[in-house]
Amino acid sequence: MAASSSKFTLPPVPSLPETDPSRCVFDAYRLRIAQLLSDTLPLSLEQAYGGVDYGKKGEDFTVALPRFRLPGKPNEIADKVIEKFQADEFIAAVVQDKAFLHFRLNTENMIRSVLEQVTELTHDTPSKEPEYGRNELGKGKRIIIEYSSPNIAKSFHVGHLRSTIIGAFLANLYKAHGWDVVSMNYLGDWGTQFGLIAVGFQKYGNQEDLEKDAIKHLFEIYVKINKDAEADPAVKAEAASWFKRMEDGDEEALKNWRVWRELSVKKYAEEYQRLNVHFDVYNGESMVSQKSMADALDRLEKMGLIDEHEGAKLVNLEAYKMGKAVVRKKDGTSIYLTRDIGGAVERYEKYKFDRMIYVVASQQDLHLSQFFKVLDLLEYPWAKDLIHINYGLVQGMSTRKGTVVFLDQIIREASTVMHEQMQKNEDKYKAIVDPEETSLNIGITGVKIQDMQAKRINNYTFNWDRMKSFEGDTGPYLQYAHVRLASIARKNPHLLPLPAPSQIDIATLVQSSHAREIVFLLGSYPDVVKTAMRTHEPSAVVTFLFRLCHVISSAWETVIVKGEEDVEKARARLWMFECTRDVVAAALRLLTISPLERM
Ligand code: ARG
Repeated sequence: MAASSSKFTLPPVPSLPETDPSRCVFDAYRLRIAQLLSDTLPLSLEQAYGGVDYGKKGEDFTVALPRFRLPGKPNEIADKVIEKFQADEFIAAVVQDKAFLHFRLNTENMIRSVLEQVTELTHDTPSKEPEYGRNELGKGKRIIIEYSSPNIAKSFHVGHLRSTIIGAFLANLYKAHGWDVVSMNYLGDWGTQFGLIAVGFQKYGNQEDLEKDAIKHLFEIYVKINKDAEADPAVKAEAASWFKRMEDGDEEALKNWRVWRELSVKKYAEEYQRLNVHFDVYNGESMVSQKSMADALDRLEKMGLIDEHEGAKLVNLEAYKMGKAVVRKKDGTSIYLTRDIGGAVERYEKYKFDRMIYVVASQQDLHLSQFFKVLDLLEYPWAKDLIHINYGLVQGMSTRKGTVVFLDQIIREASTVMHEQMQKNEDKYKAIVDPEETSLNIGITGVKIQDMQAKRINNYTFNWDRMKSFEGDTGPYLQYAHVRLASIARKNPHLLPLPAPSQIDIATLVQSSHAREIVFLLGSYPDVVKTAMRTHEPSAVVTFLFRLCHVISSAWETVIVKGEEDVEKARARLWMFECTRDVVAAALRLLTISPLERM
């Protein structure tokens, strides 16, 4: 078959809002199916489109007829569609199975249109960045995503790690939908514990250790002075009065605190960088102004929502089964909840967001619902645009040296565990250019994939052995799959450069069921991204990656490039593997993972 030299195009299809065949070619196929349905049944194009779903394995798209609630028996309805059906550029066949209609796409066109789209949107975009999988549904909208948010001078626990991993993914996900994303870290940098540390610093602190590792030093001081405070109420009282001075803006009391904060942020930023995580804004509890908190309290008071109890102020949320929440302590100092309320108001004023997400562990479900409820009672119209993205507990993340208290311990352990694993294969290990960097990358990939593999809300037990394994559904397995894909072109220089897509004869792909399955999955990627968005679940992307990599694994034997004497065939297959690699890389990057070229 002679390939034409112009770009391949499918015949026009009608259009619907939120569909865009130029970014997701499966939209065109679905629109064609919807058109066929709306031509033969009493349905609008939109109604019909809403009924076109992915089929089970082996079937491309499926329509469950009962969902349309049409008069008549499924058989009669199906007959109407089938009678009128004629195979075309989009659809090769329609088959009825009870109340379902299964549509099989035209294999040759499906393969060509998907591979061309992947190629174009990866290598030939105006932005010069890979765009396959992206869409513009969020264009013009702004979101604040608050995540990670550790507490200075307290431990960075696995809950913060999860928030960091999930939050960074969500930031990428919203960007992939065209949103303007503000990544925000809301540090726990305020509260009575800072009075305690100030007292402790005089006793146990020193400048040198502070500069070497502020996070560690402050934590050590905190642990020691906490003990002292438990034994001696005078220490506690001193700490409280110190914090009161800080809240009153006493510059003398604030001086050290400022340095602690700055050094901690600097250290955190370095560690986030190693995790491939970035924040646009380092905010913190300390930055919420007294005024916005006082205003909020006033407003609550005027609306009759405040109860007083022994000098403290509480919002009564019992009508919503959320108990009573303290918003102001007896000594007049603010607390966590009040800071969140004032902070949200300030963020709205500054950013005028269309949506704001808080990525916080499910242990704080009550806090977040109280907080959102108060904003709602205060009648802020944007209160409805706040979303709490919660997640379950992680058990068992300790290093060989003991319990994890710092982020850099987790990073170091991930890297060492991986490094040891890689050294087991001496030959391979010798070939790695930068083993430190590589083991760090794969180690972090292992940690992230283990975290994002299941639904957020599930608890899981962290397992270093599983995290480092190259077999089974693990991070190293995904990196390995990418490396292997990337090696095909390197090992077959005689096939390069590949001709323009229109000059590649894809007959061999059309004949291979493995190739068809792979390409179909590639075509579904833009939908996977949208599904992840609907549920805010990274697992949607991880599951897709595993599925794709499994199919690739089973195709290695039959869809060969090296050793294929027919250059035309070898080129078509290489093209498909290059596209596959592009999609695997895109999905890994979406998950905040940097795909490796070699390992
Ligand atoms: N720093 C808090 C903690 O470690 C988490 C902050 C969550 N965000 C918020 N806006 N409350 O528990």
